[in-house]
Amino acid sequence: MKNLHKLFFAAGMMIMAACLVFTACTKEGKQGIQGVAGTNGTNGTNGTNGKDANETCKLCHARSVVDSVAIQFELAKHNWGTTAFSEAGVVGCDPCHTDKGFVYVSKNNVPATFTLTNGVWVNNYATVNSDAIGNITCFTCHNSLHTTYGYGDITALTTIAPVPMTMYGGALTIDLPQDGAKSNLCVKCHQPRPLTCGNDPAGRLLNYDSLKLAPKVVMYDSATGAKNKYLKPSYRMHIHYGAVGGVFAGKGPIEFAGTLAYANSKHTTVASCPDCHMAPMTGMAGGHSFNVRNAKESALTSSTTFNFNGCNVANCHATDPISATAAKWTNTRTEIKGLLDALATKINAAGGGHDILHKDASSTNLWWGVSTGNYDGYLDIYTPGTNDAGYWRDPYSTNATNMTKPKFPKLLNVQTGALINFQFCLREYSLGIHNTSYVRALLTNTAQALTAAGL
Ligand code: HEC
Ligand code: HEC
Ligand code: HEC
Ligand code: HEC
Ligand code: HEC
Repeated sequence: MKNLHKLFFAAGMMIMAACLVFTACTKEGKQGIQGVAGTNGTNGTNGTNGKDANETCKLCHARSVVDSVAIQFELAKHNWGTTAFSEAGVVGCDPCHTDKGFVYVSKNNVPATFTLTNGVWVNNYATVNSDAIGNITCFTCHNSLHTTYGYGDITALTTIAPVPMTMYGGALTIDLPQDGAKSNLCVKCHQPRPLTCGNDPAGRLLNYDSLKLAPKVVMYDSATGAKNKYLKPSYRMHIHYGAVGGVFAGKGPIEFAGTLAYANSKHTTVASCPDCHMAPMTGMAGGHSFNVRNAKESALTSSTTFNFNGCNVANCHATDPISATAAKWTNTRTEIKGLLDALATKINAAGGGHDILHKDASSTNLWWGVSTGNYDGYLDIYTPGTNDAGYWRDPYSTNATNMTKPKFPKLLNVQTGALINFQFCLREYSLGIHNTSYVRALLTNTAQALTAAGL
Protein backbone atom coordinates (compact mmCIF):
# COMPACT_ATOMS: atom_id res chain seq x y z
CA MET A 1 0.00 0.00 0.00
CA LYS A 2 2.74 2.36 0.99
CA ASN A 3 4.57 1.56 -2.25
CA LEU A 4 1.50 2.29 -4.26
CA HIS A 5 1.22 5.71 -2.70
CA LYS A 6 4.83 6.29 -3.60
CA LEU A 7 4.18 5.37 -7.20
CA PHE A 8 1.33 7.85 -7.47
CA PHE A 9 3.47 10.41 -5.81
CA ALA A 10 6.34 9.81 -8.24
CA ALA A 11 4.06 10.01 -11.25
CA GLY A 12 2.56 13.23 -9.94
CA MET A 13 6.02 14.69 -9.52
CA MET A 14 6.89 13.88 -13.11
CA ILE A 15 3.84 15.66 -14.41
CA MET A 16 4.69 18.66 -12.29
CA ALA A 17 8.28 18.62 -13.52
CA ALA A 18 7.11 18.51 -17.14
CA CYS A 19 4.85 21.52 -16.49
CA LEU A 20 7.75 23.39 -14.99
CA VAL A 21 9.91 22.74 -18.05
CA PHE A 22 7.11 23.89 -20.27
CA THR A 23 6.54 27.08 -18.30
CA ALA A 24 10.21 27.89 -18.28
CA CYS A 25 10.41 27.52 -22.02
CA THR A 26 7.39 29.72 -22.59
CA LYS A 27 8.91 32.43 -20.49
CA GLU A 28 12.07 32.41 -22.47
CA GLY A 29 10.04 32.34 -25.68
CA LYS A 30 12.47 29.92 -27.26
CA GLN A 31 10.63 26.68 -27.62
CA GLY A 32 12.74 23.55 -28.17
CA ILE A 33 11.56 20.06 -29.02
CA GLN A 34 10.13 18.17 -26.07
CA GLY A 35 11.95 14.86 -25.41
CA VAL A 36 10.28 11.49 -24.87
CA ALA A 37 9.24 10.83 -21.27
CA GLY A 38 11.57 8.36 -19.51
CA THR A 39 10.40 5.10 -17.95
CA ASN A 40 9.57 5.15 -14.26
CA GLY A 41 12.42 4.26 -11.91
CA THR A 42 12.17 1.33 -9.48
CA ASN A 43 10.86 2.10 -6.05
CA GLY A 44 13.38 2.74 -3.29
CA THR A 45 13.34 0.77 -0.04
CA ASN A 46 11.75 2.35 2.97
CA GLY A 47 14.13 4.30 5.17
CA THR A 48 14.61 3.34 8.83
CA ASN A 49 13.06 5.67 11.30
CA GLY A 50 15.49 8.40 12.31
CA LYS A 51 16.30 9.18 15.98
CA ASP A 52 14.95 12.45 17.18
CA ALA A 53 18.32 14.22 17.22
CA ASN A 54 16.99 16.84 19.54
CA GLU A 55 16.23 14.22 22.18
CA THR A 56 19.72 12.66 22.32
CA CYS A 57 21.38 16.08 22.31
CA LYS A 58 19.43 16.87 25.45
CA LEU A 59 20.94 13.93 27.31
CA CYS A 60 24.06 16.07 27.50
CA HIS A 61 23.09 19.55 26.43
CA ALA A 62 21.14 20.38 29.54
CA ARG A 63 21.73 22.93 32.28
CA SER A 64 22.43 20.17 34.77
CA VAL A 65 24.86 18.19 32.59
CA VAL A 66 27.29 19.73 30.09
CA ASP A 67 26.40 23.31 30.94
CA SER A 68 27.09 22.96 34.66
CA VAL A 69 30.28 20.96 34.09
CA ALA A 70 31.49 23.62 31.66
CA ILE A 71 31.13 26.21 34.43
CA GLN A 72 33.18 24.07 36.83
CA PHE A 73 35.79 23.62 34.12
CA GLU A 74 36.37 27.39 33.99
CA LEU A 75 38.16 26.93 37.32
CA ALA A 76 40.46 24.18 36.05
CA LYS A 77 44.05 24.94 35.17
CA HIS A 78 43.48 22.52 32.28
CA ASN A 79 41.28 25.30 30.95
CA TRP A 80 42.97 28.56 32.04
CA GLY A 81 46.60 27.36 32.02
CA THR A 82 48.70 28.75 29.18
CA THR A 83 50.91 25.83 28.21
CA ALA A 84 48.67 24.70 25.32
CA PHE A 85 49.67 28.02 23.75
CA SER A 86 53.27 28.26 24.87
CA GLU A 87 54.08 24.69 23.78
CA ALA A 88 51.88 24.61 20.65
CA GLY A 89 53.63 22.84 17.78
CA VAL A 90 56.31 21.23 19.96
CA VAL A 91 55.77 17.53 19.27
CA GLY A 92 57.73 16.26 22.30
CA CYS A 93 55.77 18.41 24.73
CA ASP A 94 52.33 18.13 23.18
CA PRO A 95 51.28 14.61 24.19
CA CYS A 96 50.56 16.23 27.57
CA HIS A 97 50.05 19.88 26.74
CA THR A 98 47.61 19.84 23.82
CA ASP A 99 44.31 18.26 22.93
CA LYS A 100 45.34 16.83 19.58
CA GLY A 101 48.70 15.62 20.88
CA PHE A 102 47.08 13.68 23.71
CA VAL A 103 44.43 12.11 21.50
CA TYR A 104 47.12 11.21 18.93
CA VAL A 105 49.42 9.37 21.37
CA SER A 106 46.44 7.64 22.99
CA LYS A 107 44.81 6.52 19.75
CA ASN A 108 48.08 5.35 18.18
CA ASN A 109 49.44 3.83 21.35
CA VAL A 110 52.71 5.74 20.86
CA PRO A 111 55.39 3.96 22.92
CA ALA A 112 57.51 5.61 25.62
CA THR A 113 60.66 3.91 24.32
CA PHE A 114 63.95 5.42 23.17
CA THR A 115 65.51 4.18 19.92
CA LEU A 116 69.00 4.72 18.55
CA THR A 117 68.61 6.76 15.37
CA ASN A 118 71.76 7.88 13.50
CA GLY A 119 73.83 7.45 16.67
CA VAL A 120 71.48 9.41 18.91
CA TRP A 121 68.87 8.10 21.31
CA VAL A 122 65.48 9.50 20.35
CA ASN A 123 62.52 9.63 22.71
CA ASN A 124 59.58 8.18 20.79
CA TYR A 125 56.97 9.63 23.11
CA ALA A 126 55.87 12.45 20.83
CA THR A 127 52.98 13.45 18.66
CA VAL A 128 53.22 14.53 15.02
CA ASN A 129 53.25 18.04 13.57
CA SER A 130 49.71 17.81 12.28
CA ASP A 131 48.45 16.92 15.78
CA ALA A 132 50.34 19.28 18.04
CA ILE A 133 47.83 21.97 18.97
CA GLY A 134 44.68 22.57 20.92
CA ASN A 135 43.59 23.59 24.38
CA ILE A 136 42.67 20.83 26.78
CA THR A 137 38.87 20.67 26.49
CA CYS A 138 36.01 18.23 27.13
CA PHE A 139 36.98 16.41 23.93
CA THR A 140 40.55 15.75 25.20
CA CYS A 141 39.44 13.35 27.93
CA HIS A 142 36.07 12.41 26.39
CA ASN A 143 37.22 11.91 22.80
CA SER A 144 34.20 9.82 21.76
CA LEU A 145 31.95 12.88 22.07
CA HIS A 146 29.74 13.47 19.05
CA THR A 147 30.40 10.06 17.55
CA THR A 148 27.26 8.02 18.37
CA TYR A 149 25.37 10.87 20.05
CA GLY A 150 24.41 8.53 22.88
CA TYR A 151 25.21 9.29 26.52
CA GLY A 152 27.97 6.67 26.37
CA ASP A 153 30.02 9.16 24.35
CA ILE A 154 30.75 10.99 27.58
CA THR A 155 31.30 8.07 29.95
CA ALA A 156 33.91 6.60 27.57
CA LEU A 157 37.27 8.19 28.45
CA THR A 158 40.01 8.73 25.85
CA THR A 159 42.28 6.16 27.50
CA ILE A 160 42.36 4.14 30.72
CA ALA A 161 45.17 1.83 29.61
CA PRO A 162 48.18 1.18 31.89
CA VAL A 163 50.80 3.90 31.40
CA PRO A 164 54.36 3.02 30.32
CA MET A 165 56.56 5.62 32.05
CA THR A 166 58.34 7.98 29.72
CA MET A 167 60.95 8.66 32.46
CA TYR A 168 62.06 5.04 32.13
CA GLY A 169 61.71 4.70 28.37
CA GLY A 170 58.74 2.43 29.03
CA ALA A 171 60.68 -0.02 31.25
CA LEU A 172 58.29 0.69 34.15
CA THR A 173 54.51 0.85 33.84
CA ILE A 174 51.97 2.49 36.11
CA ASP A 175 48.59 0.82 36.38
CA LEU A 176 45.93 2.01 38.82
CA PRO A 177 42.94 -0.27 38.06
CA GLN A 178 40.63 0.87 40.89
CA ASP A 179 37.54 2.96 40.01
CA GLY A 180 37.44 1.83 36.39
CA ALA A 181 41.16 2.71 35.94
CA LYS A 182 40.22 6.38 35.49
CA SER A 183 43.47 7.38 37.23
CA ASN A 184 45.43 6.02 34.28
CA LEU A 185 43.90 8.82 32.20
CA CYS A 186 45.42 11.39 34.57
CA VAL A 187 48.76 9.63 34.98
CA LYS A 188 49.34 9.49 31.25
CA CYS A 189 50.01 13.25 31.52
CA HIS A 190 50.80 13.64 35.23
CA GLN A 191 53.93 11.50 35.08
CA PRO A 192 57.63 12.43 35.41
CA ARG A 193 59.76 12.98 32.32
CA PRO A 194 63.11 11.37 31.44
CA LEU A 195 66.52 12.70 32.45
CA THR A 196 68.80 12.35 29.47
CA CYS A 197 72.57 12.74 29.62
CA GLY A 198 73.28 16.15 28.17
CA ASN A 199 76.98 15.39 28.10
CA ASP A 200 76.63 12.18 26.15
CA PRO A 201 76.70 12.83 22.41
CA ALA A 202 74.40 9.83 22.06
CA GLY A 203 71.97 11.42 24.56
CA ARG A 204 71.44 8.25 26.59
CA LEU A 205 68.76 8.01 29.19
CA LEU A 206 70.36 8.39 32.63
CA ASN A 207 71.02 5.00 34.23
CA TYR A 208 68.97 5.68 37.35
CA ASP A 209 70.17 2.51 39.05
CA SER A 210 73.75 3.78 38.95
CA LEU A 211 72.75 6.57 41.33
CA LYS A 212 72.11 4.09 44.11
CA LEU A 213 74.52 1.31 43.04
CA ALA A 214 77.51 3.63 42.63
CA PRO A 215 76.65 6.45 45.04
CA LYS A 216 80.15 7.89 45.26
CA VAL A 217 80.85 8.12 41.54
CA VAL A 218 81.24 11.74 40.47
CA MET A 219 78.39 13.05 38.37
CA TYR A 220 80.04 16.41 37.81
CA ASP A 221 83.14 18.14 39.18
CA SER A 222 83.92 21.82 38.63
CA ALA A 223 87.40 21.55 40.16
CA THR A 224 88.68 19.21 37.48
CA GLY A 225 86.37 20.72 34.89
CA ALA A 226 85.69 17.15 33.91
CA LYS A 227 82.76 17.11 31.57
CA ASN A 228 81.61 13.63 32.24
CA LYS A 229 79.20 11.67 30.13
CA TYR A 230 76.29 12.11 32.45
CA LEU A 231 73.87 14.84 33.40
CA LYS A 232 74.59 18.52 32.97
CA PRO A 233 73.88 20.41 36.17
CA SER A 234 71.59 23.23 35.09
CA TYR A 235 68.79 25.40 36.42
CA ARG A 236 66.23 22.92 35.09
CA MET A 237 67.91 19.56 35.62
CA HIS A 238 64.63 17.97 36.61
CA ILE A 239 61.94 15.34 36.23
CA HIS A 240 59.43 17.96 35.01
CA TYR A 241 56.18 18.63 36.86
CA GLY A 242 54.24 15.39 36.77
CA ALA A 243 55.71 13.96 39.96
CA VAL A 244 52.27 13.03 41.32
CA GLY A 245 51.71 10.04 39.05
CA GLY A 246 55.03 8.48 40.09
CA VAL A 247 54.63 9.16 43.79
CA PHE A 248 51.01 8.01 43.90
CA ALA A 249 51.96 4.69 42.27
CA GLY A 250 55.25 4.44 44.18
CA LYS A 251 57.22 4.25 40.93
CA GLY A 252 59.97 6.41 39.50
CA PRO A 253 62.10 7.79 42.34
CA ILE A 254 65.57 6.45 43.22
CA GLU A 255 64.89 3.91 45.96
CA PHE A 256 68.02 4.12 48.13
CA ALA A 257 68.28 1.35 50.69
CA GLY A 258 67.65 2.51 54.25
CA THR A 259 65.89 1.71 57.49
CA LEU A 260 62.38 2.01 56.06
CA ALA A 261 60.83 -0.45 53.63
CA TYR A 262 59.26 0.92 50.47
CA ALA A 263 55.53 0.30 50.69
CA ASN A 264 52.52 2.15 49.40
CA SER A 265 49.75 3.63 51.51
CA LYS A 266 46.18 2.48 50.96
CA HIS A 267 45.40 5.33 48.57
CA THR A 268 47.52 3.71 45.85
CA THR A 269 45.12 0.79 45.53
CA VAL A 270 41.78 2.04 46.87
CA ALA A 271 41.53 5.71 45.88
CA SER A 272 41.48 7.16 42.37
CA CYS A 273 42.53 10.62 41.24
CA PRO A 274 38.87 11.56 40.51
CA ASP A 275 37.84 10.36 44.01
CA CYS A 276 39.73 13.25 45.62
CA HIS A 277 40.12 15.70 42.74
CA MET A 278 36.59 15.49 41.29
CA ALA A 279 34.62 15.09 44.53
CA PRO A 280 31.43 17.13 45.05
CA MET A 281 32.49 20.76 44.98
CA THR A 282 33.18 23.22 47.76
CA GLY A 283 34.22 26.67 46.64
CA MET A 284 36.71 26.38 43.78
CA ALA A 285 37.60 22.76 44.49
CA GLY A 286 36.15 19.47 43.27
CA GLY A 287 34.16 18.45 40.20
CA HIS A 288 35.65 19.45 36.89
CA SER A 289 37.84 22.10 38.55
CA PHE A 290 40.06 19.09 39.38
CA ASN A 291 41.37 20.99 42.42
CA VAL A 292 41.61 19.73 45.98
CA ARG A 293 42.89 23.07 47.21
CA ASN A 294 40.12 25.65 47.41
CA ALA A 295 42.06 28.43 45.70
CA LYS A 296 43.66 29.44 42.46
CA GLU A 297 47.43 29.39 42.71
CA SER A 298 48.71 30.99 45.91
CA ALA A 299 51.04 30.25 48.80
CA LEU A 300 50.28 27.25 50.96
CA THR A 301 49.63 28.83 54.36
CA SER A 302 47.84 27.77 57.52
CA SER A 303 44.69 29.46 56.22
CA THR A 304 44.61 27.51 52.93
CA THR A 305 41.40 25.46 52.73
CA PHE A 306 40.75 22.13 51.03
CA ASN A 307 37.86 20.05 49.77
CA PHE A 308 37.53 16.98 51.98
CA ASN A 309 34.29 15.70 50.37
CA GLY A 310 36.19 12.97 48.55
CA CYS A 311 37.84 11.71 51.76
CA ASN A 312 34.77 11.42 53.93
CA VAL A 313 32.77 8.78 52.07
CA ALA A 314 31.69 5.30 53.11
CA ASN A 315 34.53 2.76 53.25
CA CYS A 316 37.06 5.61 53.39
CA HIS A 317 37.11 8.23 56.16
CA ALA A 318 33.38 8.66 56.85
CA THR A 319 33.55 7.37 60.40
CA ASP A 320 36.60 9.41 61.41
CA PRO A 321 36.30 12.37 59.05
CA ILE A 322 39.28 14.21 57.65
CA SER A 323 39.29 17.96 58.21
CA ALA A 324 41.91 20.69 58.38
CA THR A 325 42.33 19.92 62.07
CA ALA A 326 42.14 16.11 61.95
CA ALA A 327 45.32 14.46 63.24
CA LYS A 328 45.59 12.25 60.13
CA TRP A 329 45.85 15.38 58.02
CA THR A 330 47.91 17.71 60.22
CA ASN A 331 50.35 15.15 61.63
CA THR A 332 51.06 13.59 58.24
CA ARG A 333 51.71 16.90 56.57
CA THR A 334 53.82 18.27 59.44
CA GLU A 335 55.93 15.12 59.52
CA ILE A 336 56.51 15.06 55.74
CA LYS A 337 57.29 18.77 55.63
CA GLY A 338 59.91 18.19 58.33
CA LEU A 339 61.50 15.37 56.32
CA LEU A 340 61.42 17.48 53.16
CA ASP A 341 63.10 20.39 54.95
CA ALA A 342 65.72 18.07 56.43
CA LEU A 343 66.58 16.60 53.02
CA ALA A 344 66.83 20.12 51.55
CA THR A 345 69.37 21.02 54.25
CA LYS A 346 71.50 17.97 53.43
CA ILE A 347 71.34 18.66 49.68
CA ASN A 348 72.22 22.32 50.22
CA ALA A 349 75.29 21.36 52.24
CA ALA A 350 77.02 20.73 48.89
CA GLY A 351 77.14 24.51 48.47
CA GLY A 352 79.35 24.95 51.55
CA GLY A 353 77.34 27.82 52.98
CA HIS A 354 75.15 28.79 50.04
CA ASP A 355 72.10 26.78 48.98
CA ILE A 356 72.28 24.95 45.67
CA LEU A 357 68.47 24.60 45.60
CA HIS A 358 66.60 27.50 44.04
CA LYS A 359 64.11 29.37 46.24
CA ASP A 360 61.15 31.43 45.14
CA ALA A 361 58.63 32.96 47.52
CA SER A 362 56.19 34.10 44.84
CA SER A 363 53.23 32.77 42.91
CA THR A 364 55.46 31.71 40.01
CA ASN A 365 56.56 28.92 42.35
CA LEU A 366 53.84 26.25 42.21
CA TRP A 367 55.21 24.90 45.51
CA TRP A 368 55.32 28.21 47.38
CA GLY A 369 54.96 27.31 51.05
CA VAL A 370 55.26 23.54 50.60
CA SER A 371 58.79 23.57 52.05
CA THR A 372 59.99 26.08 54.65
CA GLY A 373 62.68 27.32 52.26
CA ASN A 374 60.13 27.82 49.44
CA TYR A 375 62.14 25.64 47.08
CA ASP A 376 60.79 24.86 43.61
CA GLY A 377 63.00 21.90 42.74
CA TYR A 378 65.32 23.84 40.40
CA LEU A 379 69.03 24.41 40.99
CA ASP A 380 70.12 27.99 41.67
CA ILE A 381 72.29 28.15 38.54
CA TYR A 382 72.57 31.44 36.66
CA THR A 383 70.64 31.39 33.39
CA PRO A 384 70.09 34.66 31.57
CA GLY A 385 66.42 35.38 31.04
CA THR A 386 65.30 32.46 33.20
CA ASN A 387 67.22 32.74 36.46
CA ASP A 388 68.88 36.15 36.29
CA ALA A 389 69.51 36.28 40.01
CA GLY A 390 71.16 32.83 39.91
CA TYR A 391 74.05 32.43 42.36
CA TRP A 392 76.06 29.58 40.80
CA ARG A 393 77.96 29.47 37.53
CA ASP A 394 76.48 27.40 34.73
CA PRO A 395 79.35 24.98 34.01
CA TYR A 396 78.47 24.86 30.33
CA SER A 397 78.10 28.54 29.48
CA THR A 398 80.78 31.13 28.77
CA ASN A 399 78.42 34.09 29.14
CA ALA A 400 80.41 36.98 30.70
CA THR A 401 78.14 37.48 33.71
CA ASN A 402 78.05 33.74 34.22
CA MET A 403 81.86 33.61 34.44
CA THR A 404 81.82 36.02 37.39
CA LYS A 405 79.74 33.56 39.44
CA PRO A 406 81.22 30.99 41.83
CA LYS A 407 81.80 27.54 40.33
CA PHE A 408 78.99 25.06 40.91
CA PRO A 409 80.12 22.45 43.47
CA LYS A 410 80.94 18.81 42.80
CA LEU A 411 77.96 16.44 42.65
CA LEU A 412 78.15 12.72 43.38
CA ASN A 413 75.69 10.17 42.04
CA VAL A 414 74.01 9.94 45.45
CA GLN A 415 73.45 13.70 45.54
CA THR A 416 71.93 13.59 42.08
CA GLY A 417 69.57 10.85 43.24
CA ALA A 418 68.73 12.93 46.31
CA LEU A 419 67.87 15.89 44.08
CA ILE A 420 65.57 13.74 41.97
CA ASN A 421 63.84 12.38 45.07
CA PHE A 422 63.51 15.87 46.52
CA GLN A 423 61.80 16.98 43.31
CA PHE A 424 59.40 14.03 43.49
CA CYS A 425 58.43 14.69 47.12
CA LEU A 426 58.15 18.47 46.76
CA ARG A 427 56.29 18.38 43.48
CA GLU A 428 53.70 15.84 44.54
CA TYR A 429 52.33 18.92 46.36
CA SER A 430 50.28 17.13 49.01
CA LEU A 431 52.97 16.67 51.69
CA GLY A 432 52.52 12.93 51.65
CA ILE A 433 48.74 12.64 51.32
CA HIS A 434 49.09 10.97 47.91
CA ASN A 435 51.22 8.12 49.33
CA THR A 436 52.39 8.72 52.89
CA SER A 437 54.34 5.50 53.49
CA TYR A 438 56.24 5.77 50.26
CA VAL A 439 57.14 9.47 50.67
CA ARG A 440 58.20 8.90 54.29
CA ALA A 441 60.47 5.99 53.29
CA LEU A 442 61.90 7.85 50.33
CA LEU A 443 62.79 11.02 52.26
CA THR A 444 64.16 9.08 55.24
CA ASN A 445 66.26 6.62 53.25
CA THR A 446 67.59 9.29 50.90
CA ALA A 447 68.89 11.33 53.84
CA GLN A 448 70.52 8.16 55.20
CA ALA A 449 72.17 7.46 51.84
CA LEU A 450 73.73 10.93 51.88
CA THR A 451 75.00 10.33 55.42
CA ALA A 452 76.40 6.94 54.41
CA ALA A 453 78.35 8.64 51.61
CA GLY A 454 79.87 11.00 54.19
CA LEU A 455 77.67 13.94 53.19
C1 HEC B 1 27.33 12.53 25.18
C2 HEC B 1 27.10 13.92 25.39
C3 HEC B 1 26.72 14.79 24.21
C4 HEC B 1 25.74 14.56 23.27
C5 HEC B 1 24.79 13.38 23.21
C6 HEC B 1 25.76 15.68 22.39
N1 HEC B 1 26.73 16.55 22.75
FE1 HEC B 1 27.20 18.29 21.82
N2 HEC B 1 28.71 18.59 23.13
C7 HEC B 1 28.98 17.83 24.22
C8 HEC B 1 30.06 18.42 24.97
C9 HEC B 1 30.68 17.89 26.26
C10 HEC B 1 30.44 19.58 24.29
C11 HEC B 1 31.51 20.59 24.66
C12 HEC B 1 30.91 21.61 25.57
C13 HEC B 1 31.88 22.69 25.99
O1 HEC B 1 32.97 22.78 25.41
O2 HEC B 1 31.53 23.45 26.88
C14 HEC B 1 29.56 19.69 23.13
C15 HEC B 1 29.58 20.75 22.22
C16 HEC B 1 28.63 20.94 21.24
C17 HEC B 1 28.60 22.06 20.36
C18 HEC B 1 29.58 23.21 20.35
C19 HEC B 1 30.60 22.98 19.27
C20 HEC B 1 31.57 21.92 19.60
O3 HEC B 1 31.64 20.91 18.87
O4 HEC B 1 32.31 22.09 20.58
C21 HEC B 1 27.54 21.89 19.53
C22 HEC B 1 27.12 22.81 18.42
C23 HEC B 1 26.92 20.65 19.91
N3 HEC B 1 27.60 20.10 20.95
C24 HEC B 1 25.80 20.13 19.30
C25 HEC B 1 25.23 18.92 19.62
C26 HEC B 1 24.07 18.38 18.95
C27 HEC B 1 23.29 19.10 17.86
C28 HEC B 1 23.82 17.17 19.50
C29 HEC B 1 22.74 16.18 19.15
C30 HEC B 1 22.66 15.83 17.76
C31 HEC B 1 24.83 16.95 20.52
N4 HEC B 1 25.67 18.02 20.55
C32 HEC B 1 24.91 15.83 21.32
C33 HEC B 1 28.35 16.66 24.58
C34 HEC B 1 27.33 16.05 23.87
C1 HEC C 1 46.16 15.75 28.39
C2 HEC C 1 47.01 15.67 29.56
C3 HEC C 1 46.35 15.72 30.91
C4 HEC C 1 45.39 14.88 31.42
C5 HEC C 1 44.75 13.68 30.75
C6 HEC C 1 45.15 15.33 32.75
N1 HEC C 1 45.90 16.44 33.03
FE1 HEC C 1 45.86 17.55 34.70
N2 HEC C 1 47.08 18.92 33.86
C7 HEC C 1 47.70 18.78 32.65
C8 HEC C 1 48.49 19.95 32.36
C9 HEC C 1 49.33 20.17 31.13
C10 HEC C 1 48.30 20.85 33.44
C11 HEC C 1 48.88 22.23 33.58
C12 HEC C 1 48.27 23.13 32.53
C13 HEC C 1 48.97 24.44 32.34
O1 HEC C 1 49.75 24.87 33.21
O2 HEC C 1 48.75 25.04 31.28
C14 HEC C 1 47.40 20.15 34.37
C15 HEC C 1 46.96 20.68 35.58
C16 HEC C 1 46.27 19.95 36.52
C17 HEC C 1 45.98 20.41 37.84
C18 HEC C 1 46.34 21.77 38.40
C19 HEC C 1 47.78 21.76 38.85
C20 HEC C 1 48.25 23.03 39.45
O3 HEC C 1 49.43 23.35 39.25
O4 HEC C 1 47.47 23.70 40.12
C21 HEC C 1 45.34 19.39 38.49
C22 HEC C 1 44.86 19.40 39.93
C23 HEC C 1 45.20 18.30 37.56
N3 HEC C 1 45.78 18.68 36.36
C24 HEC C 1 44.62 17.08 37.85
C25 HEC C 1 44.30 16.13 36.88
C26 HEC C 1 43.48 14.97 37.12
C27 HEC C 1 42.89 14.58 38.45
C28 HEC C 1 43.36 14.32 35.93
C29 HEC C 1 42.56 13.08 35.62
C30 HEC C 1 41.14 13.14 35.90
C31 HEC C 1 44.13 15.06 34.96
N4 HEC C 1 44.68 16.16 35.57
C32 HEC C 1 44.27 14.71 33.63
C33 HEC C 1 47.59 17.70 31.80
C34 HEC C 1 46.66 16.70 31.93
C1 HEC D 1 54.50 13.36 30.08
C2 HEC D 1 53.70 14.56 30.02
C3 HEC D 1 54.41 15.88 29.79
C4 HEC D 1 55.28 16.20 28.79
C5 HEC D 1 55.80 15.30 27.68
C6 HEC D 1 55.61 17.58 28.98
N1 HEC D 1 54.93 18.09 30.05
FE1 HEC D 1 55.01 19.99 30.74
N2 HEC D 1 53.73 19.54 32.25
C7 HEC D 1 53.10 18.32 32.39
C8 HEC D 1 52.15 18.41 33.47
C9 HEC D 1 51.24 17.30 33.94
C10 HEC D 1 52.24 19.72 33.98
C11 HEC D 1 51.42 20.33 35.11
C12 HEC D 1 51.84 19.82 36.45
C13 HEC D 1 51.19 20.54 37.59
O1 HEC D 1 50.95 21.75 37.53
O2 HEC D 1 50.94 19.86 38.58
C14 HEC D 1 53.25 20.40 33.19
C15 HEC D 1 53.62 21.73 33.38
C16 HEC D 1 54.42 22.43 32.50
C17 HEC D 1 54.69 23.83 32.59
C18 HEC D 1 54.09 24.78 33.61
C19 HEC D 1 54.96 24.95 34.78
C20 HEC D 1 54.45 26.06 35.66
O3 HEC D 1 55.29 26.62 36.35
O4 HEC D 1 53.25 26.36 35.66
C21 HEC D 1 55.51 24.17 31.56
C22 HEC D 1 56.05 25.54 31.22
C23 HEC D 1 55.77 22.95 30.83
N3 HEC D 1 55.09 21.91 31.43
C24 HEC D 1 56.55 22.89 29.71
C25 HEC D 1 56.81 21.72 29.01
C26 HEC D 1 57.70 21.66 27.87
C27 HEC D 1 58.45 22.83 27.28
C28 HEC D 1 57.70 20.35 27.46
C29 HEC D 1 58.50 19.74 26.32
C30 HEC D 1 59.91 20.01 26.34
C31 HEC D 1 56.79 19.61 28.32
N4 HEC D 1 56.27 20.48 29.24
C32 HEC D 1 56.52 18.28 28.20
C33 HEC D 1 53.31 17.18 31.63
C34 HEC D 1 54.18 17.09 30.56
C1 HEC E 1 41.18 16.09 32.26
C2 HEC E 1 40.15 15.18 31.80
C3 HEC E 1 38.75 15.68 31.66
C4 HEC E 1 38.31 16.82 31.03
C5 HEC E 1 39.15 17.89 30.37
C6 HEC E 1 36.88 16.79 31.11
N1 HEC E 1 36.46 15.69 31.78
FE1 HEC E 1 34.53 15.16 32.13
N2 HEC E 1 35.16 13.58 33.21
C7 HEC E 1 36.47 13.20 33.37
C8 HEC E 1 36.54 12.06 34.25
C9 HEC E 1 37.79 11.33 34.71
C10 HEC E 1 35.20 11.74 34.60
C11 HEC E 1 34.73 10.65 35.56
C12 HEC E 1 34.59 11.29 36.93
C13 HEC E 1 34.26 10.34 38.05
O1 HEC E 1 34.20 9.15 37.87
O2 HEC E 1 34.05 10.86 39.17
C14 HEC E 1 34.37 12.72 33.92
C15 HEC E 1 32.98 12.73 33.98
C16 HEC E 1 32.16 13.60 33.27
C17 HEC E 1 30.74 13.58 33.28
C18 HEC E 1 29.89 12.58 34.05
C19 HEC E 1 29.73 11.34 33.22
C20 HEC E 1 28.92 10.28 33.94
O3 HEC E 1 29.53 9.37 34.48
O4 HEC E 1 27.70 10.40 33.96
C21 HEC E 1 30.30 14.60 32.49
C22 HEC E 1 28.88 14.98 32.16
C23 HEC E 1 31.47 15.27 32.00
N3 HEC E 1 32.60 14.64 32.48
C24 HEC E 1 31.47 16.37 31.17
C25 HEC E 1 32.59 17.07 30.80
C26 HEC E 1 32.53 18.35 30.12
C27 HEC E 1 31.29 19.04 29.67
C28 HEC E 1 33.81 18.76 29.99
C29 HEC E 1 34.32 20.07 29.38
C30 HEC E 1 33.69 21.28 29.90
C31 HEC E 1 34.67 17.74 30.56
N4 HEC E 1 33.90 16.74 31.06
C32 HEC E 1 36.06 17.80 30.58
C33 HEC E 1 37.58 13.79 32.82
C34 HEC E 1 37.56 14.98 32.13
C1 HEC F 1 43.54 10.80 48.76
C2 HEC F 1 43.21 11.96 48.00
C3 HEC F 1 43.99 12.22 46.74
C4 HEC F 1 44.14 11.36 45.67
C5 HEC F 1 43.60 9.95 45.53
C6 HEC F 1 44.89 12.07 44.70
N1 HEC F 1 45.18 13.33 45.13
FE1 HEC F 1 46.21 14.76 44.12
N2 HEC F 1 46.14 15.96 45.74
C7 HEC F 1 45.55 15.66 46.94
C8 HEC F 1 45.85 16.71 47.89
C9 HEC F 1 45.38 16.77 49.33
C10 HEC F 1 46.65 17.65 47.21
C11 HEC F 1 47.24 18.95 47.76
C12 HEC F 1 46.43 20.10 47.32
C13 HEC F 1 47.17 21.39 47.46
O1 HEC F 1 47.93 21.59 48.39
O2 HEC F 1 46.96 22.24 46.60
C14 HEC F 1 46.80 17.16 45.86
C15 HEC F 1 47.48 17.84 44.87
C16 HEC F 1 47.57 17.43 43.55
C17 HEC F 1 48.07 18.22 42.47
C18 HEC F 1 48.58 19.63 42.58
C19 HEC F 1 47.51 20.61 42.22
C20 HEC F 1 46.72 21.11 43.33
O3 HEC F 1 45.48 20.90 43.33
O4 HEC F 1 47.28 21.77 44.19
C21 HEC F 1 47.98 17.47 41.33
C22 HEC F 1 48.39 17.88 39.94
C23 HEC F 1 47.43 16.19 41.72
N3 HEC F 1 47.19 16.19 43.07
C24 HEC F 1 47.20 15.15 40.85
C25 HEC F 1 46.73 13.90 41.25
C26 HEC F 1 46.69 12.74 40.41
C27 HEC F 1 47.12 12.71 38.97
C28 HEC F 1 46.20 11.72 41.16
C29 HEC F 1 46.03 10.26 40.78
C30 HEC F 1 47.25 9.59 40.33
C31 HEC F 1 45.90 12.25 42.47
N4 HEC F 1 46.28 13.57 42.50
C32 HEC F 1 45.30 11.53 43.49
C33 HEC F 1 44.79 14.55 47.21
C34 HEC F 1 44.67 13.45 46.40
